Amino acid sequence: MCGIVASLGSRPASPFIIQGLKALEYRGYDSAGLAVMGAKGVKCIKAVGQVSRLERKVKFKRPAGKLGIGHTRWATHGRVLVKNAHPHCDDKGQFFVVHNGIIENFAILKEFLIKKGHKFSSDTDSEVVAQLLAYNFKQVGDVRQAIFLTLRSLKGAYALAIISEKEPGKLWGAKLSGPLVLGIGEQQFYLASDPMALANFSRRMIVLEDNEVVEITTEGYTISNLESEKTVKRPAALVDLADKEAGLGGYSDYMSKEIAESPRVVEDVTRGRLNSETGIVKLGGLDTVASQLEHIDRILIIACGTSYFAGMVGEYLFEEISQIPVEVQLASEFRYRNEPLSRSTAVIVISQSGETADTIAALQKISDSGILKLGVVNVVGSTLSRLTDAGVYCQAGLEKSVASTKSFIAQVTVLVMMALYLNNHSPLYNELLRGLTDLPEQMRGFLKSNSVAKIAKKYAKYNNFLFLGRRYAYPVALEGALKLKEISYIHAEGLAGGEIKHGSLALVDKNCPCFATALSNGIDDKTVNSLAEIKARKGKIVAVVDDPKSEAAKLTDDLIVVPKVPEALQPLVAGLACHLFAYHVAKTLKRPIDKPRNLAKSVTVE
Ligand code: F6R
Repeated sequence: MCGIVASLGSRPASPFIIQGLKALEYRGYDSAGLAVMGAKGVKCIKAVGQVSRLERKVKFKRPAGKLGIGHTRWATHGRVLVKNAHPHCDDKGQFFVVHNGIIENFAILKEFLIKKGHKFSSDTDSEVVAQLLAYNFKQVGDVRQAIFLTLRSLKGAYALAIISEKEPGKLWGAKLSGPLVLGIGEQQFYLASDPMALANFSRRMIVLEDNEVVEITTEGYTISNLESEKTVKRPAALVDLADKEAGLGGYSDYMSKEIAESPRVVEDVTRGRLNSETGIVKLGGLDTVASQLEHIDRILIIACGTSYFAGMVGEYLFEEISQIPVEVQLASEFRYRNEPLSRSTAVIVISQSGETADTIAALQKISDSGILKLGVVNVVGSTLSRLTDAGVYCQAGLEKSVASTKSFIAQVTVLVMMALYLNNHSPLYNELLRGLTDLPEQMRGFLKSNSVAKIAKKYAKYNNFLFLGRRYAYPVALEGALKLKEISYIHAEGLAGGEIKHGSLALVDKNCPCFATALSNGIDDKTVNSLAEIKARKGKIVAVVDDPKSEAAKLTDDLIVVPKVPEALQPLVAGLACHLFAYHVAKTLKRPIDKPRNLAKSVTVE
């Protein structure tokens, strides 16, 4: 999604802005721009495409100044054109803004401003903010008041950085739903929508809360509440951004690097939390709500995309291990559903970024219900981690590729541990504890075997795929299909194995192969039935198996052999196989693996 950076202090603004925007490139964007306050006013430069194109323009135009704002855009309103790139300004060039989010009432505001004579030059919702600032300034003659008045008129979601020629020594930031942090350096202040942009600049940060406005000068900053206008005092936190993780480290792209990190992620997630010798699962994050957890009789898991599929694995885990009924819902559906919820339900939100707008809205919907809210979140300090009562961090480290891979692995691992934590009398307890301990080495062995690349190459020519799996492998089928679509642009559909004969079998012929997860799970004969149905229609089959001599393996054209693990851990090895398959198909097709078209890393708009 869109990214924001801004700086004010003793150093030139544009080098930081370019570097900050580059650090945000992994999030996905289609254009970029900056505005720098110079001695003769604001210089605004924009470019469609990569930040390097903006950088070239900036090198040529040399905007001098120590106050500036920058933006990477992911189009929502208006096509990918220079005129729609940020920063936006009002028609007199007095106020410049960069905006992350959606102004839901922009059409009404725009109509009003047009009637007042304002001339718009973009198709975006964001421009309305700059125009409204100028309009309000004309009414009240004061920048601060104009900003507060404007923000109070906005509906939707925003993180904003604002500069104005009317007060050329000030930088303003404001937030509602979209993330925004204030970075505090040596005689230098920064704003960023993602702390990663500040990795090499500032470790002291303040995460702004909703309805807060920050006013920054070279001397210091003041945070105020938008409604009461009262000053908010909050100490800065020291944030370790682990910059060492940020590079490619010899890999050709982040996706392959992050897939390769999967075994290490399982180790990191379980370290200090799981002890197969003593038979203990220790989740400090849940201990604080242990007494509430005792009264839980239903779990509702809420998430989007890959995190939702991890949640579906959680459904099988909690039901089988913890013996608690579970429902998994898409956040985008849950937020608009009218379902009765009881206080004995615990809600678990799952999110890599912790900033997904739909998941945040879903959680906000139940904020006053007294329902226990738990988080399985990767990014420490993110909005979701702050909105939940308790939770377990995923500890997957920074994930840069748009497609989630190691995060899925981390999420499922956390869910296994949570399920065990909730029932240490489960007959599966010891087997899973041992299984999780052995898993990283087994995953490493599989990655070394390097068997998937050759098979994927063969299958890159097809335009359609079916992904099949039963029980724990069903969510894996959905995840495998999503990953293939997302990065290779090949159409794929994930199905529960038993469902194929209820309609989708009609698609199967020699041009529609099937990727099946056919691991031993006690209903192997059922999997064999589904594969036989495909084979009979001349469909090619690639299967993930743990027994190359199984009946399922005999029906298969190409085998991906993964290590044998307990069934509840199979999504981890099968997920790894799916990630590798999608990766190598996309690589064969020369797709831009880390930044698939039309997508962004963190979906902070509805
Ligand atoms: C797919 C993918 C997305 C995310 C989804 C939720 O590879 O990455 O489907 O899983 O946008 O994002 P988070 O987990 O950040 O809430």
